[in-house]
Amino acid sequence: MRPADPGLARPRVFVTRQIPEVGLGPIRAACDATIWTGELPPSRTELLAGAEGCVGVLTLLTDRVDNEFLDRVGPGLRVVSNYAVGYDNIDVAACAGRGVAVGNTPGALTETTADFAFALIMAAARRIPEAARYVRQRHWQTWGPMLLLGSDVYGTTIGIVGFGRIGQAVARRARGFGMTVLYSSRRPVDPTIEADLGANFVTLPELLARSDFVSLHVTLGDETRHLIDAGALARMKPTAILVNTARGPVVDSAALYAALRDGRIAAAALDVTDPEPIGTDDPLLELDNCLIVPHVASATHAARGRMAEMAAANLLAGISGQPLPTPVLPPD
Ligand code: DGY
Repeated sequence: MRPADPGLARPRVFVTRQIPEVGLGPIRAACDATIWTGELPPSRTELLAGAEGCVGVLTLLTDRVDNEFLDRVGPGLRVVSNYAVGYDNIDVAACAGRGVAVGNTPGALTETTADFAFALIMAAARRIPEAARYVRQRHWQTWGPMLLLGSDVYGTTIGIVGFGRIGQAVARRARGFGMTVLYSSRRPVDPTIEADLGANFVTLPELLARSDFVSLHVTLGDETRHLIDAGALARMKPTAILVNTARGPVVDSAALYAALRDGRIAAAALDVTDPEPIGTDDPLLELDNCLIVPHVASATHAARGRMAEMAAANLLAGISGQPLPTPVLPPD
């Protein structure tokens, strides 16, 4: 994009949080940009006030974009650029109905998130957080034949629920661990991809019954909210470990708590919770077999930089009426 002519009013945009400079630089250069610098997201009132009258808004998954938001921002809004691959915070149909383009950041965090899903698999199976806590609490006295025994990962069966980019990237890692790879999704992927990844399409009930590790990679929508409920958890092996790097509401938290407490599954490792942040009095926090981290699967310098570049490119394209490089298409 050419630098703005100083004689012309520059397009007003609102960036709802400080993102890496590689994205902010081009936005500042081309726009009259207000950047929310708070450590916490803007409150609803602050979000609506900040976005009012803007041509473009760069949002995060913590910002809800719905009809109320669109009414308040006004008819000049051309683009909502989400700094995330997920966009369940955005009413895409409502945006489309008003001619507002929506962008996201697919691909920027695929391998990074798959790495992290695997890190959670390893951490939960081998009880790494508990082991680190044990040493830090000065309990380590000797090498112990029965000390902190966990489960093997190598040679086991992984069930990948949702087989898009990230699910497939997890499958590639699983192959390196000699794992049997099962997946479930709306429909089987191309047979050449299946063959390449050594992955077998099965129904969700079969996947749950056969897997030692169940890793979730679906988007959040009406079909996937509470996909992992009491019934699904009951199908899992008592030795199985559930890993969620997708979205918190894909799992029914109350059912998960009961299953973990009663030993109906062995453990869970959650990058995402429902709600976020998890309540300080949430019973899941009391369980030793539940590892919870604060939605950081994409948190590397490189991935967040790529996300910033992509989100900025979508914002700048949208405000100048160009097609977005990575648009989110409205539902049919
Ligand atoms: C996303 O992009 O959807 C992740 O959840 C945050 O990086």
